Amino acid sequence: MYSVTLPRLGTYAAWRDAARALCSNGVPADAVTWRMEGEAQGLFDADTPLPPAGEMTVPATFPQLAKLVCANRTAGVHDLLYRVLLRCRDTPRLLSNRADPQVQQLEVWAKNIRRDMHKMKAFVRFRDVTPQGANRRQFISWFEPDHRIEELIASFFNRRFGDMDWVIVTPEMTTRFEGGTLSHEVGTNSRLDLSDETEELWRTYYANIFNPARLKIKAMQSEMPKKYWKNLPEADLIPGLIAGAQARVEQMQREAPTLPSPQAQRILNRLPERAEPDDIQGCTRCPLAKTATQAVLGAGPTDARLMIVGEQPGDTEDLSGRPFEGPAGQMFDRVAADAGLDRNTAYVTNAVKHFKFTPRGKRRIHQSPNKTEVDACRFWLSREITQVQPVLIIALGATAARALTGNDAPLMPRCGQIEQSLEGLPVLITVHPSAILRGDTEAMRGRLRRDLEAASDMLAQAART
Ligand code: URA
Repeated sequence: MYSVTLPRLGTYAAWRDAARALCSNGVPADAVTWRMEGEAQGLFDADTPLPPAGEMTVPATFPQLAKLVCANRTAGVHDLLYRVLLRCRDTPRLLSNRADPQVQQLEVWAKNIRRDMHKMKAFVRFRDVTPQGANRRQFISWFEPDHRIEELIASFFNRRFGDMDWVIVTPEMTTRFEGGTLSHEVGTNSRLDLSDETEELWRTYYANIFNPARLKIKAMQSEMPKKYWKNLPEADLIPGLIAGAQARVEQMQREAPTLPSPQAQRILNRLPERAEPDDIQGCTRCPLAKTATQAVLGAGPTDARLMIVGEQPGDTEDLSGRPFEGPAGQMFDRVAADAGLDRNTAYVTNAVKHFKFTPRGKRRIHQSPNKTEVDACRFWLSREITQVQPVLIIALGATAARALTGNDAPLMPRCGQIEQSLEGLPVLITVHPSAILRGDTEAMRGRLRRDLEAASDMLAQAART
């Protein structure tokens, strides 16, 4: 029997080293007990020296999954990870089998971690504690994560707040970024009661950006569970803002009738006002319906706060009738998961609803829709936008960006920027996931991931307003 104690700091690295030593020597899962430092030891659980590690390979996606799962507090996570690692030796593609109950369980635990990290990104509030005369600004924050995510999340704060010194204190760890150096210290911390004059600024800011016309209480509650409220200076404003929302909407309607911008109005005017088939499958607005198998409408909750718009269905989607299921969709899902964005909560659709292709032998080769086809299909996209009324729209690639905003300037300089849809809704412009499949992989993947992270932050922000 082997017993392995994992430290609170560097848990994943310690698990990985122990698992490698055990797995490469063929030690079965039942012969190992895993525990976290500080947890009670069983009678026979004194740590046993591990055998020297031998050569072994693991599936490329395993380390990333294991890193997330190791941060989960649920009992049994290290044991199940080890069991799956052992099984990967005989079944190298095991992790892609989403029907496998053990893989499914690991995915659920990894998802808990992504969600916890997302909450931490959204709800950490720094207080300014810069002493007089200091040459770098200094900030401190208190946060209570559900899981052991401090090490995983540190690089995010590092990137975001690299130009200041900061400390994040959690009940079990203090993370410092001082003079450009990141460090962690394990220890038991009690809740910090922090307040400063920026508190009032936060409150004024939130009261101002709160948009009563977009109030969706259920979405707000699920995005910002009450347990986070105690650390948010603006939290006590929320009940009052909600209570007064209806009156403010009425007041806004009385005071400020708003018109679309002249350019948006010109484009909307061009949408022909003719009798429309109610069913998109009978659409004759452009010739694409003649060659495609079917029209592919959007999928997802019709009250989603986020709408994601791609170019047009591909070969797979043309056959299945659902958007983003083929290679580009799968790539999108992977990057979205890394960015902490859950596609299932979004309404996903395309600028053009029919697959445009040229036949080559038995294959159907994708062709980008032209301007006339995109404009013809804007009618259906407008209908979807009107129905869903999202808080934010993500435009994937140039076709979606143009269809949504009417602006056909080059895509790359616009990525990461917010523009306005013809309906006046915010549109975050980014690259299409197929750009990652085509080449320049790392740069495109990084671009998409950063933009999806920003979208996820914006939604969390909007949930609080
Ligand atoms: N590419 C898209 O833009 N949309 C899809 O649905 C599939 C591939």
